[in-house]
Amino acid sequence: MLPQDRSSQDRSPLQPVNLPEGWAPDSWRSRPATQMPAYPDADALQDALRELRALPPLVTSWEIIALKQHLAEAQEGRRFLLQGGDCAESFAECSSDVISNRLKVLLQMSLVLVHGLRLPVVRVGRFAGQYAKPRSADDETRDGVTLPSYRGDIVNAPGFTAQERVPDPRRMIKAHARSAMTMNFVRALIDGGFADLHHPEYWDLRWVRHSPLADEYHRMVASIGDAVRFMETLSGSQVHNLNRVDFYTAHEALLLPYEEAQTRQVPRQWGWFNLSTHFPWIGMRTAALDGAHVEYFRGIRNPIAVKVGPGATPDAVLRLIDALNPDDEPGRLTLVHRMGAAQIGSKLPALLDAVRRDGRRVLWVCDPMHGNTESTANGYKTRRFGNIRSELEQAFDLHAVAGTRLGGVHLELTGEDVTECLGGARELTEHDLERAYRSTVDPRLNYEQALEIAMSIVRKHAQLVAPVQA
Ligand code: PEP
Ligand code: CO
Repeated sequence: MLPQDRSSQDRSPLQPVNLPEGWAPDSWRSRPATQMPAYPDADALQDALRELRALPPLVTSWEIIALKQHLAEAQEGRRFLLQGGDCAESFAECSSDVISNRLKVLLQMSLVLVHGLRLPVVRVGRFAGQYAKPRSADDETRDGVTLPSYRGDIVNAPGFTAQERVPDPRRMIKAHARSAMTMNFVRALIDGGFADLHHPEYWDLRWVRHSPLADEYHRMVASIGDAVRFMETLSGSQVHNLNRVDFYTAHEALLLPYEEAQTRQVPRQWGWFNLSTHFPWIGMRTAALDGAHVEYFRGIRNPIAVKVGPGATPDAVLRLIDALNPDDEPGRLTLVHRMGAAQIGSKLPALLDAVRRDGRRVLWVCDPMHGNTESTANGYKTRRFGNIRSELEQAFDLHAVAGTRLGGVHLELTGEDVTECLGGARELTEHDLERAYRSTVDPRLNYEQALEIAMSIVRKHAQLVAPVQA
């Protein structure tokens, strides 16, 4: 039985609320669905979806509920969210090195954040399902030839031939399998002690030995090691909860037929869960209030996020909150602003004020990547490290002025030694981009730039907490 009272402000995230009216896993189908591929073979699509509906889920409802609780605590300033990973995963890079290096850099960043912010960090990877990409145009034309745009490995292939670009529904099955393999490896690494705070040396990437940031990082590791040993000496036993850390998954739930097929009811829980990921998000291009994505998201019980760009008005944001979190449930809704360094100062404050004035409960997170994308003269899509850091620092200041709280960051990064973003400690130039530009979509921070961002978050935080010493 579901209780009828939807008004309580103090409801724990575990308590049931009503199922949203008129919602079903497929009710999005009656709304305009943008960014969907045109599958040429309807029967093949139905076969693939039937198979997907029968395949086991990738995550469990209790993990999803645990994450929602952590996000509720982040909303109250008792945790900080670190969300990061590739712009898009690719089937080809579902390999042990790529997965473990990405995990290492996220663990190193979270160690820097835990140490500097003195808060537990909620770690969420953009992985195990980040295979669908929104595109600015349905088609791409090269030398007079027009083909469907590449929409991520879950839909088609990046090569510019008709065969590679045709949307293939079997790719959804492959994406599910690759996600399961990724998930399995991450779970095994974590269970095996890979994330053990007693052994941060497990996460050393080669660069740590010669990076300009190495000394600072190693000082933090040593200081955390001292603190752990001190606590263990005091208590006379090992601090066991440091052996394991939680890791959650997230992806843009763009391809709605896939998401619908993984939307399930589970025993002893009310409502519906998207069991393909813990923490799905709605991208900026598909966040229309009357659109299919908002319709799908309003009915699932997962914690959810929405990207908010410079075009969002305060009124539109409040209506989105009404649609997606009508019960003001703690941990339910995260708003990820991605304005760009040049626009955040003029666009964000009105949104923060409106949400605060209305007393709405959200977790504010900054994505300093997607508003700062540009093209170089030699044709690379890139981002300047200085702009990424500037947007983040401005975000901290703007939240402080508005009386709201920046509760996390959302980044595109990789554990590989790529050269896709300009600047950073090694001052990468346009010329360097040619050396190791590997992304098929957006440019990512490499491991060193990612760690530098974590350090600059800590510095900014220290400045705000103790402006005199900083
Ligand atoms: C992304 O996160 O890769 C993305 C496309 O973001 P946005 O929707 O904010 O543009
Ligand atoms: Co991206």
